[in-house]
Amino acid sequence: MPIRRLPPETVNRIAAGEVVERPSSAIKELVENALDAGATRIEIQADGGGLSRILIADDGHGMAPDQLALAVERHATSKLEPDDAGDVDLLRISTLGFRGEALPSIGSVARLTITSRAKDGDAHQITVEGGDQRPVAPAGFPGPHGARVEVRDLFYATPARLKFMKSERSEAMAISEEIKRQAMAHEGVAFTLDLDGKTTLRLPAEHPGDEGRLKRLAALLGRDFEANALLIDQSREGIRLSGYAGLPTYSRGNGGHQYLFVNGRPVRDRLLQGALRGAYADFLARDRHPAAVLFLEIDPLFVDVNVHPAKAEVRFRDPALVRGLIVGALRHALHAAGHRASTTVADNVLAGFTAHTGPAWSPSSPTARGFSGWTGWDRPVAANQDIPGLSEMSVRVEAPPADVQHWPDPSGAPNPADPIDQPLGAARAQVHGTYIVAQTRDGIVVVDQHAAHERLVYERMKTQMAEGSVIRQALLTPEVVELDPAEADRVIARADELAQLGLIVEPFGGGAVLVRETPALLGDTDVQGLIRDIADDLAEHGAALALSERLGEVCGTMACHGSVRAGRVLSAPEMNALLRQMEATPHSGQCNHGRPTYVELKLNDLEKLFGRR
Ligand SMILES: Nc1ncnc2c1ncn2[C@@H]1O[C@H](COP(=O)(O)OP(=O)(O)OP(=O)(O)O)[C@@H](O)[C@H]1O
Ligand SMILES: [Mg+2]
Repeated sequence: MPIRRLPPETVNRIAAGEVVERPSSAIKELVENALDAGATRIEIQADGGGLSRILIADDGHGMAPDQLALAVERHATSKLEPDDAGDVDLLRISTLGFRGEALPSIGSVARLTITSRAKDGDAHQITVEGGDQRPVAPAGFPGPHGARVEVRDLFYATPARLKFMKSERSEAMAISEEIKRQAMAHEGVAFTLDLDGKTTLRLPAEHPGDEGRLKRLAALLGRDFEANALLIDQSREGIRLSGYAGLPTYSRGNGGHQYLFVNGRPVRDRLLQGALRGAYADFLARDRHPAAVLFLEIDPLFVDVNVHPAKAEVRFRDPALVRGLIVGALRHALHAAGHRASTTVADNVLAGFTAHTGPAWSPSSPTARGFSGWTGWDRPVAANQDIPGLSEMSVRVEAPPADVQHWPDPSGAPNPADPIDQPLGAARAQVHGTYIVAQTRDGIVVVDQHAAHERLVYERMKTQMAEGSVIRQALLTPEVVELDPAEADRVIARADELAQLGLIVEPFGGGAVLVRETPALLGDTDVQGLIRDIADDLAEHGAALALSERLGEVCGTMACHGSVRAGRVLSAPEMNALLRQMEATPHSGQCNHGRPTYVELKLNDLEKLFGRR
């Protein structure tokens, strides 16, 4: 077959296949056009999942009649201006659109009608059906200026594409999600979305700026997000990162709560997603995902937006700088959040409580009932039954504070006159050998002792590591750990790196390793279990990464072995020391897997729970 030039309609449909993949992508293009036109109000309507009808109305600057015909022509745009030599600089793009592709693409696969009025002009209209362009004609228009773009029967001209559409419902959901994204980045613009005649989103214009943005985000993501997000605002070398990042304990099961923007453009960029994951790597298990809304502002010269047909990805000239900024800013914010855990944790607990019906305690044992509550009220407590944790507690609370020495590392813990005034309060009891119950001025705190201690050990190991001096302790008698030969080889191959982490191992022949020293932070640890877990770690991750890059995981494994196990009975001073250390330690609000280490219940909520308010 000879080479032929394709007819323009075919060219347009091929292009359209890339630009408008589904109704939500057509809507994205039309909303971006409205934003580029300086709209302050954008109304979106979609019927039948956007397949039967889409209408986007804006109050932007509109188009004069002679511009209407150009608007639907391919490669015609008002957004790029050639310089004196007639060249266009594609690296100075400051608008969302720049290709002059969206309207002609939509016009080639649907029935497109654009009605517009420019300031001080008369309104006109143009229609394109399946690529067939009609003449511009006068028309009515409701406002002083702006545009109304109607798209009917999307993909009617490309039946093959139509077959690929999902259900109307899932298309409608994709549309909502798209509008959400656009609305997040443009808090100064009012948005309404009607789906099949029902208003599903109505967002008033907010004052542009941080406060307005938080209001907009709260409207879109819920109050929970607002309460559990940390403000991010950092600049480096002319790049600014702002927005909000969720606390680790507010993490999600998928990445659907990550909204990333570059210069006001929603993107699903690998680099940015990777940086986000990297920043939380220390705090979240691999199957948990942080919630975040992040805006990157960068000189257009340093980012290429012309790399993806739907403009969903970008390329940075200096990816390392961008990644560094994101990881640094988020870690900094998470560090500053200290021991804060998300409010939703307490909300969930309260919801759990209120879901239970009346407890079966005897009024003659008033102290017992509160604590029996922690195990759930389904187990009745006899009036005169002794609650082990509770009776032990009353003895311990009176124990002399000299007991603090029992704690593995008492050094960093302040010893305030009245611990009840501290954020995590005064320890009152240990229940089930696992949870510490503490009293604060305005509530109670329940701490998971194992999770909390694991985090403390982990953070201290990291600090020692960063200072280049992990303190080791020699075992009285070196311990031999039997592994299978491959495992032993893997551990020995990493002996130098393990030594930096405070673990001294030597080959012992026949699949065994000899352990001479362990990190002092771990105290009297189960050496066998520790080495086996490390061998498992190494097997799982192979030799691809240096241990130092997986510091988090290895430290986490070690910390787990050094921590106060669930089930260990603690004295009151030990418990208080743990609370004080948590307060002084960054990231102590969650364990290494993103689970909370403590829950705080406010007196207010407790009073509500018991009908006192
Ligand atoms: N809502 C609108 N209000 C005013 N002018 C508009 C509107 N929508 C489109 N236009 C004009 O029509 C032109 C063509 O729009 P189109 O979306 O096809 O291309 P673009 O926005 O320039 O680039 P891209 O293909 O990257 O979106 C725009 O450059 C703009 O001048
Ligand atoms: Mg456009």
